[in-house]
Amino acid sequence: MLVVLQRNQDEVGRQAARMISGAVRRNPFVRLGLATGATMVGVYRELVRLHREEHLDFARVVTFNLDEYLGIPPSHPQSFHSLMQQHFFSHVNIPRNSIHIPDGTITRDYDAYCEGYEQAIRDAGGIDLQLLGIGRNGHIGFNEPMSSLGSRTRIKELSAETIEDSRKAFGPQEMPQCAITVGIGTILETRRVLLLATGAFKADAIAKSIEGPVSASVTASALQLHRDVTFLVDEEAGSLLTQKPYYEHVLKMTQALMPERLS
Ligand code: GLP
Repeated sequence: MLVVLQRNQDEVGRQAARMISGAVRRNPFVRLGLATGATMVGVYRELVRLHREEHLDFARVVTFNLDEYLGIPPSHPQSFHSLMQQHFFSHVNIPRNSIHIPDGTITRDYDAYCEGYEQAIRDAGGIDLQLLGIGRNGHIGFNEPMSSLGSRTRIKELSAETIEDSRKAFGPQEMPQCAITVGIGTILETRRVLLLATGAFKADAIAKSIEGPVSASVTASALQLHRDVTFLVDEEAGSLLTQKPYYEHVLKMTQALMPERLS
C-alpha cells in the first residue's frame, strides 16, 4: 500500500488526475473504474482541463461506474448518471457505448442484471485502474458495513449514515433506500486502485481502513488485500493515521525507485 499525504482537496484531485491521465497516455485502451461523490468533482475537472488543453484523448477508453441509486432514472439530478454527465462525460470524447453505469431503473431480475454487469467488466478485459472514494463509515462503492468481502455486483441496502449523508443532496425529496453496487470481490480483482479521501469527517474511516484490521465492518479495509493500492488523502482525512513518517519515507523511496507508480 502506498499512502500519499497531501495538503488539501485540490492537491488530491490534481494528483489523482495526473495518475489517471498517465494511465490513459500509457494505454489508450485503458479500462477505468469510476466513482462519484463530491471528492471526485475536482478529479474530473482536472481531467477535462487536460483533455481540452493538453490533448488527453479518451476516444478508446472504456469506463465502468461503481454504483447507482436504485429507483431513480438517469435524468434525476441526484443520480450518479447525472453527476458523471455533468462533470465528466459531456466534456470529453469517450464514446457513448464505452460508458457503463448501473441502471437504477431496473425493477426485477436483479441478479441477472448484476451478473450481466460483472460479465461486461470481464468481457472488456477487467478494470485496469479503479478510482474510489470512501464513505464516512468506511464503505467503498455502496458496500456498506458487513458486506461480504467476496461480494459481487448486487443490490445493497443503504445504511442509516449513508442515507443521512446522501440526504444533503436529495433535500426533502424521497431518498432511495438501496443501490446497485459492484462488490468488494469485484474491486479486489481490479489491477490498480486509487482511493481518495478529503476532509476531517473521513479521518476515522481512513485510519481504520489503512491501519485497522481487515474487517467487513469497514469495507475499505479489504483493500489491504489488494496488490496495488494507493491512498491519496489530505491533511484532515489523514489526521488520525499513526504511521505518517513511515508513509513519507515509503513515498520518497517510491519516487526514487519506481516513479511510474505515481504517474
Ligand atoms: C457515495 C458513493 C461512494 C463515495 C461516497 C463518498 O456513498 N457511493 O462511492 O465514495 O459517496 O462521497 P463524497 O466524496 O461526497 O464524500
